[in-house]
Amino acid sequence: MVAMKKSFVIALCNVVVVLHFVGSSTVVQACTPSDRAALLEFRAKLKEPYIGVFDTWKGQYCCNGWYGVSCDPNTHRVAGITLRGESEDPIFQRAKRSGLMIGSISPAICKLTSLSTIIIADWKGISGGIPNCITNLLFLRVVDLVGNRISGVIPANIGRLQRLKVLNFADNQISGGIPTSITRLTSLSHLDLRNNNVTGVIPVDIGRLKMLSRLLLTGNKISGQIPESLTRIYRLGDLELAMNRITGPIPASLGKMSVLATLNLDGNLVSGEIPGTLMTSSISNLNLSGNLIVGQIPNTFGPRSYFTVLDLSKNRLKGPIPASITAASFIGHLDVSHNHLCGKIPAGSPFDRLDATSFAYNDCLCGKPLGNCGK
Ligand SMILES: *[C@@H]1O[C@H](CO)[C@@H](O)[C@H](O)[C@H]1NC(C)=O
Ligand SMILES: *[C@@H]1O[C@H](CO)[C@@H](O)[C@H](O)[C@H]1NC(C)=O
Repeated sequence: MVAMKKSFVIALCNVVVVLHFVGSSTVVQACTPSDRAALLEFRAKLKEPYIGVFDTWKGQYCCNGWYGVSCDPNTHRVAGITLRGESEDPIFQRAKRSGLMIGSISPAICKLTSLSTIIIADWKGISGGIPNCITNLLFLRVVDLVGNRISGVIPANIGRLQRLKVLNFADNQISGGIPTSITRLTSLSHLDLRNNNVTGVIPVDIGRLKMLSRLLLTGNKISGQIPESLTRIYRLGDLELAMNRITGPIPASLGKMSVLATLNLDGNLVSGEIPGTLMTSSISNLNLSGNLIVGQIPNTFGPRSYFTVLDLSKNRLKGPIPASITAASFIGHLDVSHNHLCGKIPAGSPFDRLDATSFAYNDCLCGKPLGNCGK
């Protein structure tokens, strides 16, 4: 038994040695000439004079020492391009300034047919469109172009990228709709289109994205209703649809989702009443501010209610602040200002800590921290 273990360890050491040998042999292996040519073509459309990230892009060995380029160790094909404008990497310490790459993303990137990662993020100056041909890069798992000036539309065929896990186009100038083919990305866990000019509706069958944990669409011009199918995405933890033109009611089933922690619908045209389910849900960060919500604040709070943020301000809520709210286990930040609420503010937590601004601009609220109710 001991002998067996020993020989296993020796065998393991040999494997390590062999791996090490293979590993160092990649150092002297030139990268695929077609990949090298494609990288140089890609580079030709970009200018980054301050840091000099592209100064390293020379010689035959594009898999070794070319900044931001990574390769598959077996095939020597380019597998990743990672160029971040805001980085802790020592290469950035030479320049005090960063985020100053300009140019565009060349369609030559599509010749790198083994690519699984494209991160060209936070350069602020990169403009032009997303090359349509990236939908031919079937090994892509991560596409992150956050924080540039990219315009144009999301490629209609994006749904071809079946391995895609992360799609991040946030903080750009992308217009057009969310392609319906996006609902075929069944591996997608992170979709971030915040702060663009995206129009149209959320695809009605968005619920097909079973792996989605973050859906971030804040700061666009998205209209239509919140699709009911969303509430069948069991992993969804973060749903941010703020600052759009979303209409219609809040689906009550949102309050039944098991891990939904953040629901931001502020700054839309959401109407109807607040479903009672939201008050005892897993949601701890709820912002419904600045909508057209009517009816009363549901009297459904209980020990399961735990809110770091509960912002219901700037709606058309009437009636009292419900008595059950004092049963909540925690409410950090509460804002019910700018509604038509009336009646005595319940005594006790969380109201001991809140100041009058949380309750301002209502019809006839009274009691601490506002004035006495009188008789
Ligand atoms: C959105 O488009 C409008 C014009 O249609 C433009 O003025 C605005 O700057 C764009 N916003 C973004 C974030 O791209
Ligand atoms: C809720 O949303 C409004 C409008 O977007 C924003 O002004 C407010 O700061 C948000 N509330 C909290 C507590 O973050």
